[in-house]
Amino acid sequence: MSIGLGTAALGRPQYINIRQKNVDNSDLDAFKKQSFSVLENAYNLGIRYFDTAPGYGLAEELLLEWLQTKNDETIKVATKWGYTYTANFNANAKVHEVKEHSLVKLNEQWQFSEQLLPYLKVYQIHSATLETGILENKSVLEQLAVLKKEHNLKIGLTTTGTNQVEVIKNALNVLVDGKQLFDVYQVTYNFLDQSLSEIIDELQLQNKSIVIKEALANGRVFRNKKYPHYNKMYTVLESLAHKHNVGLDAIALKYCNQTIGKSTVLSGASNLDQLKENLKTNSFLLSNNDIEQLNSFKISPELYWQERKELQWN
Ligand SMILES: NC(=O)c1ccc[n+]([C@@H]2O[C@H](COP(=O)([O-])OP(=O)(O)OC[C@H]3O[C@@H](n4cnc5c(N)ncnc54)[C@H](OP(=O)(O)O)[C@@H]3O)[C@@H](O)[C@H]2O)c1
Repeated sequence: MSIGLGTAALGRPQYINIRQKNVDNSDLDAFKKQSFSVLENAYNLGIRYFDTAPGYGLAEELLLEWLQTKNDETIKVATKWGYTYTANFNANAKVHEVKEHSLVKLNEQWQFSEQLLPYLKVYQIHSATLETGILENKSVLEQLAVLKKEHNLKIGLTTTGTNQVEVIKNALNVLVDGKQLFDVYQVTYNFLDQSLSEIIDELQLQNKSIVIKEALANGRVFRNKKYPHYNKMYTVLESLAHKHNVGLDAIALKYCNQTIGKSTVLSGASNLDQLKENLKTNSFLLSNNDIEQLNSFKISPELYWQERKELQWN
């Protein structure tokens, strides 16, 4: 199965996106129960790749609790380090997360995340950028190489923002003891931000694993009055959804899956209905003509990330 489950929406009652419906996540116990059942349903529906992070509130803890009910070597967990969740489940929190790319933070977060072993297979820098200097931080890179060797992990990084291609190029050149450190690249990709296509051949040539996040552009692929400039795109998407008898979400996920061969595309579903709709991705194929139409909706990374910045925690 090429679909993995992202757990951002399962661990934090509020996150940055466009919600189709207002949700009341104020009852934390009910929220946790629902998230736990999404994990179980995802497994029963065939999902075996789970992406998490300490920055996703309860997500790592929940996943750990759920893994204890399983005994299945085919489950793969990917987690990250570098962001701390600070909202304390308060919808009105001023600061929801804090980024810190330091050796101290890596060591601190690893202490919790290592409990995800042996399911833990991928360990990623959460949102690697040139600004934090993380790709030149020798002590951090060496520690990641130690963890890689000791626990047979794949080391990865996630990228975000207008210069993700530049970050990926730099990451490909990071060597520790003469060997490339990074094996897994979790990137933002969808038909609005197609910048990954500039570097995809190189990544595939070098046999890197590609994981795609934000395939639904944080909800921007759904018709929305606030984005009148996407009206033509919405009309085409709706007609493709009708043609293939699926939702718009499945069209957007399938686009990623078909245009980036052998990738794992993350579903960001927050409930079972969304998950089932997302998994319809496995039931059809887009034609070349469908893909060409979707390709034509590409916008500049600058515009893409400007719109993304304006989204609220909700
Ligand atoms: N490394 C990073 O920095 C980073 C950043 C972002 C994401 N990620 C990873 O990628 C995963 C997926 O990304 P994402 O959640 O940000 O983005 P996404 O998949 O682009 O968007 C999720 C949005 O789609 C909506 N949605 C999903 N299925 C739907 C359906 N069938 N009908 C209507 N709405 C639907 C959700 O709605 P609701 O709001 O109503 O639930 C949510 O707004 C995350 O869980 C996380 O693991 C990583």
